[in-house]
Amino acid sequence: MISKSSAPGKVILFGEHAVVYGEPALAMAVDKRCGCEISVSSSRTTVNGHPIREEYHSYILQCLNILEVDNKLKISTESDIPSGAGMGSSAAVSVATIGALRKFLEKGSTEEMIAKDAFNVEFEVQGNASPIDTSTSTHGNAIMVSEKKEKDFLWEIKKDEKSWNIHHRDIPDMDFVIGDTGVHSSTGPLVEKVKKFYRKSNFAREIIQEIGEIVRDGCVLLEEEDLEGVGRLMNKNHRLLSILGVSHPSLEKLIKGARRHSYGAKLTGAGGGGSMIALTDEPNKVAEVIEKKGGTPYVLKSTKKGLTSTNTEEKE
Ligand code: PMV
Repeated sequence: MISKSSAPGKVILFGEHAVVYGEPALAMAVDKRCGCEISVSSSRTTVNGHPIREEYHSYILQCLNILEVDNKLKISTESDIPSGAGMGSSAAVSVATIGALRKFLEKGSTEEMIAKDAFNVEFEVQGNASPIDTSTSTHGNAIMVSEKKEKDFLWEIKKDEKSWNIHHRDIPDMDFVIGDTGVHSSTGPLVEKVKKFYRKSNFAREIIQEIGEIVRDGCVLLEEEDLEGVGRLMNKNHRLLSILGVSHPSLEKLIKGARRHSYGAKLTGAGGGGSMIALTDEPNKVAEVIEKKGGTPYVLKSTKKGLTSTNTEEKE
């Protein structure tokens, strides 16, 4: 038997950083995907033809551990999601691998089971994780994560004292361009920087709340397919993130350039470098500007398609 799966990457549209303080965040699946194929191996477990090794295959190894797999497997993965560009490449590998493994082992494969396993995989490998990436990659379309259970609740993810409620949100077909600044940024120190500001300043706490309102308004405008309104909120969300201190000159340069041909643009993910996202009807023009300004553009579409997985009989 061969089990095959495919899981999308994600981008955060609204609410990064504020989500750390209990405000909601909205992420959507994008049309860049990671595929995984699993069959029985006659000798040892391999990944893309090489023996599985912790230093190269930490996410896949953790998927095998979590599902307590002791069979020898031939695992192949293939991804067109760039890594380190805020598109959830490690989450998509984890979701695709868990999805294929659960099919292969006939262990039950509801979205909830897969999203929970994949979150635990990321948590174990990274020592910390938010469930945004893995839940979006599993479910597709868009998800809103929030403290309370709300309309279109899907599942709850718990870790230690923390808990996140994941909700389905519907979004129209949209064109986006991601611009990778090439400036490396780490999420942990940026979250710490905002935390310091949050603790000592009422103003920072008000900004975080205002971002929460943007997320909720954004969900309504997306449902109404009001792209101009969504773009305006992206610009506003970016302004507030800059005030929190997580923008970067490299991001400002790409965002300013992209806005000439976009409904709106903002940083996506942790900031401090990393990537920006623009919502546009002219993706090629935006990609050109981003390239001219020294960034790496990725032209994307939103997608409703989350994880897919199938079993097929191996041919003799
Ligand atoms: O860097 P990313 O794309 O994983 O996003 C980080 C988002 C934050 O809100 C800054 C942190 C978090 O854990 O939610």
